[in-house]
Amino acid sequence: MTYHEAYEKLKKWDQLHVLNYYDALSEEQKTALLEQISVTDFSVVKNRQQAKELPKKGIITPLEAMEVSQIAEHQSVYEKIGMDAIRAGKVGAVLLAGGMGTRLGSEDPKGMYDIGLTKNVFIFQRLIENLLEVVKKAEAWIPLYVMTSDKNHEKTCAFFEAHDYFGYRKELVFFFMQEMAPATDYTGHVYMEEKHKISTSPNGNGGWFVSMDKWGILDKVHEAGVEWLNVFAVDNVLQRIADPVFVGATIATKSEVGAKVVRKSAPDEKVGVMCREDGRPSIVEYYELTDELMNAKDAKGNPAYNFGVILNYLFSVRALEEIMERQLPLHVVEKKIPYLDEQGHLQKPEEPNGFKYEQLILDMIHELKTCLPFEVERNREFAPIKNKTGIDSVESARALCKENGIEL
Ligand code: UTP
Repeated sequence: MTYHEAYEKLKKWDQLHVLNYYDALSEEQKTALLEQISVTDFSVVKNRQQAKELPKKGIITPLEAMEVSQIAEHQSVYEKIGMDAIRAGKVGAVLLAGGMGTRLGSEDPKGMYDIGLTKNVFIFQRLIENLLEVVKKAEAWIPLYVMTSDKNHEKTCAFFEAHDYFGYRKELVFFFMQEMAPATDYTGHVYMEEKHKISTSPNGNGGWFVSMDKWGILDKVHEAGVEWLNVFAVDNVLQRIADPVFVGATIATKSEVGAKVVRKSAPDEKVGVMCREDGRPSIVEYYELTDELMNAKDAKGNPAYNFGVILNYLFSVRALEEIMERQLPLHVVEKKIPYLDEQGHLQKPEEPNGFKYEQLILDMIHELKTCLPFEVERNREFAPIKNKTGIDSVESARALCKENGIEL
């Protein structure tokens, strides 16, 4: 892109400040900046007006979960179906590790965080250990696709390499990168992170399947004959991955997606809960849950919206391909964004100072026709690490690992 074209594009989106330092840049930096302007989609900033309004929901009705007691009744049948699928090479795993982990506040990718007390126990290592349990039991390998972002790709790949893939088969681990989106101040002007670089951040976890396709990884999925993808978050150190019972239950109920859920600890717990929206499966966020919904009861007299998602889904590849052209809504999220101040010095704010623009995986659920909410016991499978201390923290996850006999 020429300077003139870049100028016109920026003018259209009221972002001319991006060129403030242009004259002082080296030739190489000028080229890099023009290239970034050329590929950046500034249209996302139009969405910032939404930040104050809640997205409009359709008509919410309950979606029944398969509860722990029901799962136990059919455990062996589901396990066999799941194991057969794994042994036939039909199951792959997708680790979402493109996030910035700003709440944890480490400079490194979240998966590199060491939760060990007497030895190293890196988050990535914990996840691989969990996956290896199934691999050993099934005596079959499961391909692992790892999504990173521009901010952490190299470090993530190098870390796996340096640790010999924590015992996993290297040729079955495939890395791919997600897309980035510009980050802005509250008025919608993009921040700069360097004089020749617009501040960008990963565009949320909703674009994972499209990014897989862009990186040619979807071809590998097909070549391997994978029909189901178990997508999971980097930060839950207890979750079962490619859990044969979950796989079997999702297949047996002919669902396009299975969602692991936990029973809410309190009606106002801050988790998204499974529901139907206008008849289709959906997730209603805790801040969208009205008092009426929070207190609603099902036919058995139990809370009707009582199962929270934990970001562990099993998607049918075929179903995902059918919806991949659809645009997911863009969420405007308030975050702390490092930026260059007027003197050109890098500032790292302590408080949120603007917006990032993200697509979320939970919005994919509503695009599908059928979803099986599959209950797991939270103390056995839900130990997310979002913060250093307090709720959903390194501390709480360590306590839960201990409770489950995992040595740290
Ligand atoms: P979170 O919503 O917890 O976001 O991600 P985060 O970026 O990791 O952490 P904070 O909010 O900045 O503290 C849930 C899961 O989605 C992945 C994360 O890596 C995590 O596994 N994710 C999130 C992505 O892969 N890409 C994204 O753009 C955002």
